[in-house]
Amino acid sequence: MATLSSSTDPTQTKDATELTSSPLVQAYIRRTPKSAAFAERARRMLPSGVTHDVRYIEPHGIYITHAQGTRKWDVDGNEYVDYIGGHGALLLGHCHPEMVAAVETQLHKGTHYGACHELELQWAELLLDMVPSAERVRFTNSGTEATLLGIRLARAFTGRKKILRFIGHFHGWQDHVAFNAFSLFDGAPTAGVLPEIADNVVIAPPWDWEETQRIIEEHDDIAAVLIEPTGSTWGQVPVKPEFLHSLREATAQRGIVLMFDEVVTGFRCASGGAQEALGVTPDLTALGKIVAGAMHGAALVGRADIMNRLDHRAAAAGGFEKVGHQGTYNAMPTTCAAAIATLQIVKTTDACQRAIDYGRGLQDALDDVFRDEGVNWIAYGKYGGFHVFLNPNNISTTREEIESGKFDYATLCAPAGPGVMTKIRIGCLLHGVDIMPWPGGPISAVHTDEDCHLTAEAFRQTIRMLKDEGDI
Ligand SMILES: Cc1ncc(COP(=O)(O)O)c(C=O)c1O
Repeated sequence: MATLSSSTDPTQTKDATELTSSPLVQAYIRRTPKSAAFAERARRMLPSGVTHDVRYIEPHGIYITHAQGTRKWDVDGNEYVDYIGGHGALLLGHCHPEMVAAVETQLHKGTHYGACHELELQWAELLLDMVPSAERVRFTNSGTEATLLGIRLARAFTGRKKILRFIGHFHGWQDHVAFNAFSLFDGAPTAGVLPEIADNVVIAPPWDWEETQRIIEEHDDIAAVLIEPTGSTWGQVPVKPEFLHSLREATAQRGIVLMFDEVVTGFRCASGGAQEALGVTPDLTALGKIVAGAMHGAALVGRADIMNRLDHRAAAAGGFEKVGHQGTYNAMPTTCAAAIATLQIVKTTDACQRAIDYGRGLQDALDDVFRDEGVNWIAYGKYGGFHVFLNPNNISTTREEIESGKFDYATLCAPAGPGVMTKIRIGCLLHGVDIMPWPGGPISAVHTDEDCHLTAEAFRQTIRMLKDEGDI
């Protein structure tokens, strides 16, 4: 197994001036002059010129004017096949007509009542119906808030302090989960997070059950275990299904709350999320992105006895202090409208399966390109997305082996050389495809054969340019 750098930067950003001397980057700069001007204006106001770290890219990102289906267009008039997919929220693609109609109708009826309304009940009923572990629901604004609320409830319910998390697993940007995701894999707190918070977070390797079991046994004060059930970055580093079953058993035996982070996998692996696809039922589940129909919303669902820590009547009857939870924009009517329209489609159609099938076809097309072009990269990803293993240490393996959970984070996320990931991303943009930086991306149910062809060709041209520049 490879060793893990304590500060692996997934974007592997090279010095901006060094990058701009690359012909590939030069061609991108020539293609995107208006985006460059917007980026210059942005840097004067927004740190890094962006509003989300993942959107940071040197020398500049693209500025989008509009989107439809699987495509989006930038201010320079360039068209892109989109694999950012609203950071995974757009299972149905951009501007799905039923989602748009539902939000439009609701906009005219009011965006915020400051009171209860029926749409939040319809949304909750869908979650109870679709997600195996959902007995109660509390809506939040973001996945980050859902994991934060889950941690608070688990501590209140168990009376214990510690949280156990897994190397590389991402659960949002709140303090308890803000380290050991993209960097600081040794569990040291990131800048601005109190050491006392990190002291109460235990880190375990999700590819090693014996070590994880040892860590669980070593601590008698673990309130919750938090995991991305298909592996970090929803399967970039897959978790063995047996690992999840063992974890379920060990946490149940010790009264530890098992929380699945299904912010991405919920309604992507299956209409009931990874828990349905893998047959493991957690105690709590954080849902985000697709759950809110690609609007700003999320949810925590789970066991009634744990969720009832939020319930006034249960607290009075049970003699415990109710856990507080507010949120001005929780379950806004417009978000509920988008969520209901989207989840109805997920529930009643083969949307999840279509995205999964397209993913397989795309991975085959990419692997053909990698073989033709003589690179040892491997495309994989079981659940409505794709990842590319850049294989810098030239390991002899297969897609099936990777998906079986055989490899650790350091192996699958090994840096492929300075600036290479950034150049792959820019190369794809140059050829009309927008991907996530690792490289990979979520897939929608509406991606087409033409999208697949364009994507494979974008990778082919990018590989050729990287070879010409001596990067690979
Ligand atoms: C697995 C996972 N959990 C939690 C979050 C945080 O969700 P949000 O960005 O809505 O706060 C994300 C966001 O990308 C995620 O991928």
